[in-house]
Amino acid sequence: EIKGFIFDLDGVIVDTAKYHFIAWQAVARELGIDFTEEDNEALKGVSRKKAFDLLLSFGGLTLTEDEKEPFLERKNRHYLALVDQMGTGEILPGVLPFLEVLQRKNYKTALGSASKNARRVLDRLNLTPFFQVIIDGNRVKKAKPDPEVFLLGAGELGLPPENCLVFEDARAGIAAAKAAGMIAVGIGKRDQLSQADLVIPGFYQESPEALLQRLLRL
Ligand code: BG6
Ligand code: MG
Repeated sequence: EIKGFIFDLDGVIVDTAKYHFIAWQAVARELGIDFTEEDNEALKGVSRKKAFDLLLSFGGLTLTEDEKEPFLERKNRHYLALVDQMGTGEILPGVLPFLEVLQRKNYKTALGSASKNARRVLDRLNLTPFFQVIIDGNRVKKAKPDPEVFLLGAGELGLPPENCLVFEDARAGIAAAKAAGMIAVGIGKRDQLSQADLVIPGFYQESPEALLQRLLRL
């Protein structure tokens, strides 16, 4: 029985993936690395450091930890400048009505994000009050696909994993949810998220009540 819903942030609630991509692309350009939108799929859901290591591997480059630092800092500054332009209009379609239904029906909700900027993004979108628990990149030691982020979320909600459903847009995130023993719902395309129990293109396709009923049957 599903009693709690755990949401990834980037790519599920808001399309910040495009801002991460823009900021990484600027770094890639500085380093002369060819970096496409397809390459970017692998960077979704993983920590900033791990994403940069992937980017470097695409270019066949190795840097020391000290050499990486200024790039990571610039990437984040660029990303935050884009985030700070964002408004509530960028909440993905259907997300707010769905959160409102969950709230009205007293379901438990948590955020489970790899991002160290998760609170800032939620605040920008005025969505912070919809989450009882927020687990972000500052709290987890092991990045997705490790289940840590979702297990912490369930724990703080006071629910066993099998009573939780996770929404994720990233391959690593779906893997993390399954490793946690939760129901995993992919947001996006089936081929990218084959491990998910269900894949939906977004929250907009049906009424929030109909979506909820469909999810409760999983
Ligand atoms: C995830 C994103 O939510 O957060 C990744 O999908 C990103 O693309 C990661 O790298 C870390 O984000 P931040 O904000 O801490 O750099
Ligand atoms: Mg995501």
